[in-house]
Amino acid sequence: MDITFLLNGETVVLNGVAPTTTLLDWLREERGLTGTKEGCNEGDCGACTVMVTDESGPRALNACILFLPQLHGRAVRTVEGVSGPDGTLHPVQQAMVEHHGSQCGFCTPGFIMSMATAHARGATDHDDQLAGNLCRCTGYAPIIRAARSAEGTPVPEWMADEVPGSTPPAPTASGPWMPASTDELATIYAAHPEAVLVAGATDVGLWVTKALRELDEVIFLGRCDDLKAVEVTEASIRFGAMVDMNTVRATLAPLFPSYGEMIRRYGSTQVRNAATIGGNIANGSPIGDNPPALIALGATLHLRKGEIRRDLPIEDYFLDYGKQDRAPGEFVEAVTIPRQTDRLKCYKLSKRFDQDISAVCGCFNVTIEDGTVRAARIAFGGMAGVPKRAAAVEAALVGQPWTEATVAAAQAAFDHDFTPMSDMRASAGYRLASAKAMLARYLAEDMGEGASVLEVRA
Ligand SMILES: Cc1cc2nc3c(=O)[nH]c(=O)nc-3n(C[C@H](O)[C@H](O)[C@H](O)COP(=O)(O)OP(=O)(O)OC[C@H]3O[C@@H](n4cnc5c(N)ncnc54)[C@H](O)[C@@H]3O)c2cc1C
Ligand code: FES
Ligand code: FES
Repeated sequence: MDITFLLNGETVVLNGVAPTTTLLDWLREERGLTGTKEGCNEGDCGACTVMVTDESGPRALNACILFLPQLHGRAVRTVEGVSGPDGTLHPVQQAMVEHHGSQCGFCTPGFIMSMATAHARGATDHDDQLAGNLCRCTGYAPIIRAARSAEGTPVPEWMADEVPGSTPPAPTASGPWMPASTDELATIYAAHPEAVLVAGATDVGLWVTKALRELDEVIFLGRCDDLKAVEVTEASIRFGAMVDMNTVRATLAPLFPSYGEMIRRYGSTQVRNAATIGGNIANGSPIGDNPPALIALGATLHLRKGEIRRDLPIEDYFLDYGKQDRAPGEFVEAVTIPRQTDRLKCYKLSKRFDQDISAVCGCFNVTIEDGTVRAARIAFGGMAGVPKRAAAVEAALVGQPWTEATVAAAQAAFDHDFTPMSDMRASAGYRLASAKAMLARYLAEDMGEGASVLEVRA
């Protein structure tokens, strides 16, 4: 497998490199580019942030969970590549100096790369842009001040990267594959069903860096551009499996604002730039944030094996803990959400506001006509071994007046629907109590009472 990309403006061609080599290890160990730091090695701290540019523009990504083949045809900038050839500092570097944005400095290269990427994109929501970068000693105020002061300054011309584009890699007999279309992927995967699919690698990356797993056969989906399509029609919104979470957020925020707000709290900018909606569904995690929302919206999952395609209601995909309705060699091709009046509220409960996995994620979509509940789709993550509908709660609501008394009666039905477990994120009792409270919160919001954790009312 030949991998070609630009590194700080220079072309790199790699041949025979192990396909699960992370960019971070390669930069530090093979290239001596030690400005990119290793903090957690699992996507949580942002010390390893780099800028990766493709046809859709620059993105901040965590190099510690980014495999080299994912860079094929792209341009990479590390902290060594953001100042000018004559040593002139990048505007965000200059701003960090002027605003005293660095003490021990360990986190600083990662911050600089997130800030330089936001600067290149013209993004000014600095709290969100930097939520994936941890700093233990400076404190965030000077860093945010620095980011603000660099807003609107011109992007230095030395930052312009000609994206090489995906030149075809050499054909591979076995091991790693980089199919260039969904058809090619379908053929390869049907012939090698034991291979591991790599989408954004925000799960698979950790199998390698933390669980130290050796992956013999891997198929990288990053070049299947047809899997990155978003189709919005009057009837539906269809996401290809490789649509990243920031794109999902941008697409859904105007249609289902609560979904968009939940995704704002999904990992960090770097994680959302990598993680895909297909990966978040396919892995079958009981605490993934998309599945409960998609179940509540009545989404349809599109699966494909070779030439055979099938569709199923997304809740039917999750059979049991670690078990999904997906045959060997079959993959998630897309997911479709029917257009509807927005009644969705997503409540993500986690210990931290940003960059934390849900302890409980409750998604509510209840239709009211003339004060009576006509239909209800309610789904939870973190309450069972799979993302699961609250069928008894729904049944207790439908046909009843939309009142506190109905909600109080329906809350008891949670005990029939769920037997949650206790783990490091939450106890079973807390999970159950929180889920019940979320139903009351949904009613309260519907009645115009403030229930957002971001709003404080006197
Ligand atoms: C720091 C950090 C924070 C995170 N925060 C959150 C969070 O807030 N909320 C949340 O829900 N998750 C979170 N995650 C988990 C992770 O981001 C998601 O599960 C992610 O969506 C996985 O998608 P991916 O594209 O990265 O998948 P990958 O890691 O590439 O793959 C995941 C699994 O799905 C399989 N797969 C991928 N694509 C397909 C496909 N098209 N068809 C069939 N199988 C496929 C892979 O083989 C693998 O088994 C976080 C992860 C990290 C590292
Ligand atoms: S080293 Fe912490 S996110 Fe990569
Ligand atoms: S300056 Fe020390 S961790 Fe940020």
